[in-house]
Amino acid sequence: MAPAMRLGILTGGGDCPGLNAVIRAVVMTARGDYGDTVIGFQDGWRGVLERNAQEITLPAVRNILAQGGTILGTSRTNPFAEEGGPDRVRRSLAAEGIDALIAIGGDDTLGVALKLSEMGVAVLGVPKTIDNDLSGTDVTFGFHTAVQIATDAIDRLKTTAESHHRVMVCEVMGRHAGWIATYAGIASGVADILVPEAPFDVDEVCERLKQRHDEGLYSSILVVAEGALPAADRKAERPEVLAHGGARDAFGNLRLGGIGSWLAEEIEKKTGFEARVTILGHVQRGGTPTAFDRVLATRFGIAAVNAVHDGAIGRMVALQGPKIVTVPLAEGAGKKKYLDMSFYDEVARPLLD
Ligand code: F6P
Repeated sequence: MAPAMRLGILTGGGDCPGLNAVIRAVVMTARGDYGDTVIGFQDGWRGVLERNAQEITLPAVRNILAQGGTILGTSRTNPFAEEGGPDRVRRSLAAEGIDALIAIGGDDTLGVALKLSEMGVAVLGVPKTIDNDLSGTDVTFGFHTAVQIATDAIDRLKTTAESHHRVMVCEVMGRHAGWIATYAGIASGVADILVPEAPFDVDEVCERLKQRHDEGLYSSILVVAEGALPAADRKAERPEVLAHGGARDAFGNLRLGGIGSWLAEEIEKKTGFEARVTILGHVQRGGTPTAFDRVLATRFGIAAVNAVHDGAIGRMVALQGPKIVTVPLAEGAGKKKYLDMSFYDEVARPLLD
């Protein structure tokens, strides 16, 4: 049997259904198969910087598989934006006697992991994001749950839209990529799906709605990803609904949310049809993960521990086809996986209804 290790673990960035399933699988595999000790750092990289850590025992993970959020807490703290951050990380990991750190996160968290691994820190990544916009893996856990939540919401919006003969705009998450919008839009059969990858022309959107109206379809549902933008030549018309006064997090990400409200107002102005907006927001990240996400997260957790024991440092676990593999962290961190527009054109566009 491989020698026992002291493994660190953290969850960083936006929370995501399935994080607890990863933590549970890591602790059960590490303890059960290798006799390891698992040290949990609180609130992402902040817990490492502040050496806020404690052992995660088996009883602590016994009932968390179906639980949303993360028992470790999370933050968008960036050690590279903090005075002496990388050195503080190193000192903290050394003081806790950590042999390898498992960092569960999206682009930003894994970007930090990559930089640290280039500086010699033993770190392994586990990809997560509801947005599904990370390269190197076919899918991230949390995405399936977010799509299901959005689909359920759109199904409900449909009946009220029909009763009132209204246009309903449903804004979903997806800062850079329109995966959630497209999957939920396909799954619920909507009139239009607007994604960040394809800037839209609001006049064209309105024309399509008028056409539906002429055909006797008096209610319409539009799904818009929070990162979707009007086409470049129309940008000037867009009020500052997207930037929340330009607020950014420690990784420089703009706070989004609001394109749906702007769009609903434009539609009312340009068509005269009554329009309403629903911004699903963080409800898409909350609550229990779907069975698919629980299974994927569990597979990632088991694979992460095995990978660390195999010496796969500086890598990230990933789903590729039916298999869980590891890929270099650089293949996931910093490389966005945008929506495949040929998929949109083949599956979403022809059935916009
Ligand atoms: O985790 C990604 C994401 O869900 C984006 O779609 C969204 O823009 C962002 O998180 C919101 O994050 P916060 O929790 O900081 O509001």
